[in-house]
Amino acid sequence: MSTNDLLLKNIEANVHYPINFAELEAAAKRTLEPGPFGYIRSSAGGEETYRKNTDSFLKYSIIPRFLTDVSTLNTEVTILGHTYPHPLFIAPVGVNKIAHEDGELAVSKAAAKFGFPYIQSTVSSYSIEEIAAETKGSSKWFQLYWSSQNKEISFSMVKRAEAAGYEAIVLTVDTTMLGWREEDVRNQYSPLKRGFGQGNYASDPVFMASLSDPSQESIVNSIVENIYHPTLNWTNISELREHTTLPILIKGILHPGDAKLAIEKGIDGIIVSNHGGRQLDGVIASIDALPEIVQAVDGRIPVLFDSGIRRGSDAVKALALGATAVCIGRPVIWGLASGGQEGVERVLENFLQETRISISLSGARNLEEVKKLKLFKD
Ligand code: FNR
Ligand code: LAC
Repeated sequence: MSTNDLLLKNIEANVHYPINFAELEAAAKRTLEPGPFGYIRSSAGGEETYRKNTDSFLKYSIIPRFLTDVSTLNTEVTILGHTYPHPLFIAPVGVNKIAHEDGELAVSKAAAKFGFPYIQSTVSSYSIEEIAAETKGSSKWFQLYWSSQNKEISFSMVKRAEAAGYEAIVLTVDTTMLGWREEDVRNQYSPLKRGFGQGNYASDPVFMASLSDPSQESIVNSIVENIYHPTLNWTNISELREHTTLPILIKGILHPGDAKLAIEKGIDGIIVSNHGGRQLDGVIASIDALPEIVQAVDGRIPVLFDSGIRRGSDAVKALALGATAVCIGRPVIWGLASGGQEGVERVLENFLQETRISISLSGARNLEEVKKLKLFKD
């Protein structure tokens, strides 16, 4: 099917769904209670970084080349030994049941349908095994929140991901404690305390054996205790390395010095991210952190990117600034809230189509050429 045929098919499929980010968010607001809506939408502190994440994309403009024969397009990307159909991933987002009863099952199934590698969160509503069973043959990575009280829980989850055929481990390092999120204080809303996000814990033999009793209350308390992990350090990362044969990526890198350290410590890849502004407010926009990190890494390991990607042209800008691939967060969850799996499918197909069209209209035919695109910075 040509790009134009796809575009027409896509226009018809979207008849019942919101299209852009603002419309998706507004639709979710109509569907969800203030607590869950606020948890997904909001960020830390005065939300300075949340705004910067998207505003900063406006500073970068693509300077297209024409007359390059863009009748063909190859968006394949090879990362750590696996080839993916395009460089668009699903960012790890936990507690999806607060947006829709089908939660991560809906997102991972939609991801499988459109070839988006799915990064599953530690605090998913559904377990690794439940998701693997519903999405056989699709690419999945596992995002790990270090368990501070008992690191054996972390090793157990990583082993389970390995056994279920996941292709990489993503250790998130910017969430040693939850950021200061005023909207959640205002709404008195904590999904973990309300019993969401237990899928991987309640199914974990090491976690369950660590409890003094298997009641809901002790599950909730133990998850909340374990997720707080201020002691996380490079030694833990070496320990993690000993417990898995999968590649390890670190998510949440913003400083080129940390990127270099990650390479020295044998890390296989990084994700440049500020957690969508949900952790430390006032930090650099993720897209502004990317160029120096790409320079410091100098092609030695893959550099993925998230925080602020709202549409296909944002993806192209991040790829042109040197990202190996980009991860999509909130847009996917708004799609989930507005229409379950079908809502996510609409968001993903639109993202893919807009990305493909944006690459071709920039004059590029593959990701190597995207990397060489010239950007103007205001
Ligand atoms: C997240 N994010 C996240 N990251 C992670 O490593 N593990 C997790 O469990 C979660 N959970 C989570 C929940 C919700 C509701 C949101 C919105 C985000 C962060 C996520 O992976 C990603 O970094 C951000 O979503 C990127 O910002 P944007 O582009 O979504 O604004
Ligand atoms: C969040 C945690 C779960 O950002 O990562 O809400």
